[in-house]
Amino acid sequence: MGNAPRGNFDFIVVSNRLPVDRIPASEGDGGWRRSPGGLVTALAPVMNKADGAWVGWHGAPDEDLAAFDNDGMRLIPVTLSSDEVEQYYEGFSNSTLWPLYHDVIAPPEFHRTWWDVYRRVNHRFADAAAHSAAQGATVWVQDYQLQLVPRYLRQSRPDLRIGFFNHIPFPPPEIFAQLPWRRAIIDGLLGADLIGFQRPNDTANFLRSARRFLGASVKQKQVHVPTPDGEMSHIARAEAFPISIDVEHIQTLARRPDVIERARQIRSDLGNPTTILLGVDRLDYTKGIPHRLKAYGELLSEGKVKVEDASMIQVASPSRERVETYRMLREEVEGTVGRINGQFDTIQNTAVRYLHHSYPVEEMVALYLAADVLLVTALRDGMNLVAKEYVAARVNNTGALVLSEFTGAADQLRQAMLVNPHDIDGLKETIMAAVNLSPAAASRRMRAMRRQVLDHDVERWSQDFLVTLDEKAVRDDR
Ligand code: F6P
Repeated sequence: MGNAPRGNFDFIVVSNRLPVDRIPASEGDGGWRRSPGGLVTALAPVMNKADGAWVGWHGAPDEDLAAFDNDGMRLIPVTLSSDEVEQYYEGFSNSTLWPLYHDVIAPPEFHRTWWDVYRRVNHRFADAAAHSAAQGATVWVQDYQLQLVPRYLRQSRPDLRIGFFNHIPFPPPEIFAQLPWRRAIIDGLLGADLIGFQRPNDTANFLRSARRFLGASVKQKQVHVPTPDGEMSHIARAEAFPISIDVEHIQTLARRPDVIERARQIRSDLGNPTTILLGVDRLDYTKGIPHRLKAYGELLSEGKVKVEDASMIQVASPSRERVETYRMLREEVEGTVGRINGQFDTIQNTAVRYLHHSYPVEEMVALYLAADVLLVTALRDGMNLVAKEYVAARVNNTGALVLSEFTGAADQLRQAMLVNPHDIDGLKETIMAAVNLSPAAASRRMRAMRRQVLDHDVERWSQDFLVTLDEKAVRDDR
């Protein structure tokens, strides 16, 4: 223990995915593109400013790659075999932990072989970080795919300052209890000095589990972590750090003439309807897309919304397509969209414009500018950065945000039109209220939300986390 070879980097981010993904030969030239999801969007600006390295998987199975530079960042790829992608990523991460941590919306599967591979792959990520980190470096581990990395790192490199941030919800102990490896996961996380969560509720859930399943002694936000021989190893601190977005970047795009022109074009391509409603999600069962479509379909049926006056755009970016629950969701969503459009479309007008694609950020901002109402109806979501991006893009203080109360973002965007997406009648009423919101009321709400988002951008998030980690280390050294 403690004798692993060292590297030169003072700051290292470790996440399942690198900020870039290999473009598969079937889709292009085998080059690189930005990885999906909010994590990269959140951390890329931080990494661009720090002189550090990023350890992660590059998205292509069975490919060994040497470290390389991309967009001003040093990237250290971790190789995963096809079998590991199946068992660690699609299996344990996305068919065990993901549904378990999201209120068991889909049933989690528990397989001992997946768990073995999860441990093995977590070890590999920890080793890659340990080999790249300089003496006393800060290592910031990200998300549920890598919950054992803090413990493995502390074992091999006790000199490091270790942070962990969980981007998804942490479930209450009553649900977490189902996990056969619950003690090992809590112990893995407790290898960190600072464990960050999106919401105070997630933090409280974690601390309750640490107490219940490890018998840890918890005082306020501090967990006293014993070593196997009963000595005190260190104090791990758990706290909420709600993540945000690169506000400046979104605002700059929202003011760019070509992006504004593109928004106008989108409206005109849709026949300049009075109202455009927009949904933007990874195609994931946590996002409540069927609930949103059900509510919208009923509003069309009841004549409360007319296809001549309103259009809904649903961007559903492809995600985890080899996982069965995601395939089933895709069939359900596409079936529903087909039925709604079959019933309500005219030659000129489409009820739901469904786009199963990912788009560059410029196009996303144009969509945000084109949309009068953004619909976020997640059944459970760690944060939901789309809601924050929409607010950042509405530089004229127009537009309405319908936001599920089950997102982390609802803690901060209190002036959104909050909904319980399971309550279809309530959802329909809120959608109508958003469609008919007076410009004055919309502007009041949007101004207040914009103040919140402008004040709390992603740089502040990472600074808050890293300063808290530093201060804690200084206190512990005394
Ligand atoms: O925030 C949750 C998360 O799983 C991230 O870790 C990830 O970058 C994003 O969603 C996209 O998911 P995936 O990496 O499985 O495509």
